[in-house]
Amino acid sequence: MPRTTRTAVLVKPDGMQRGLIGEIINRFERKGLKLVGLKMAQLTDDMLKSWYAEHQDKHFFDDLIQFMGQMPLVAMVWEGVECVPVVRRLVGTTLGREAEAGSIRGDFGMSQQFNLIHASASDEDARREIEIVFSDHELFSYTGAMECVIYADDEV
Ligand code: CMP
Repeated sequence: MPRTTRTAVLVKPDGMQRGLIGEIINRFERKGLKLVGLKMAQLTDDMLKSWYAEHQDKHFFDDLIQFMGQMPLVAMVWEGVECVPVVRRLVGTTLGREAEAGSIRGDFGMSQQFNLIHASASDEDARREIEIVFSDHELFSYTGAMECVIYADDEV
């Protein structure tokens, strides 16, 4: 049975500098996903080390923390049925120049490090990442006017 879940998205510094915030939000809205959290924030070293804990032994870890903390980012939480894999497909694979045409990275990116956007890899990662950036009162539950034409009754 499909399940409504939430996922965390960051527009990375290169995505911010490239002016892609609106484009990214537009793509998720058009898909039928629901925005339930949105803020601009400069993430601290501690927040980023926790966010990227799985990469702590990688050679690029320090550069990644420095890169992601250099300026304010836009952080979002999106909701929908099977939201995590849906958003990952819209984002595309890590390396921009190999990412599928039609995906965000496939349409706008060429790089591995400068890959424009982060999206949670699993429901567990999503819960952890959302908690790093958002407080409970910054996340919202509401009924979208178009939900009845986005999902059939037995899909939600
Ligand atoms: P993402 O997959 O969202 O999360 C881990 C990030 O590390 C990845 O995006 C890239 O931004 C970055 N990354 C991955 N591989 C490299 C690399 N070889 N050098 C620098 N950064 C990288």
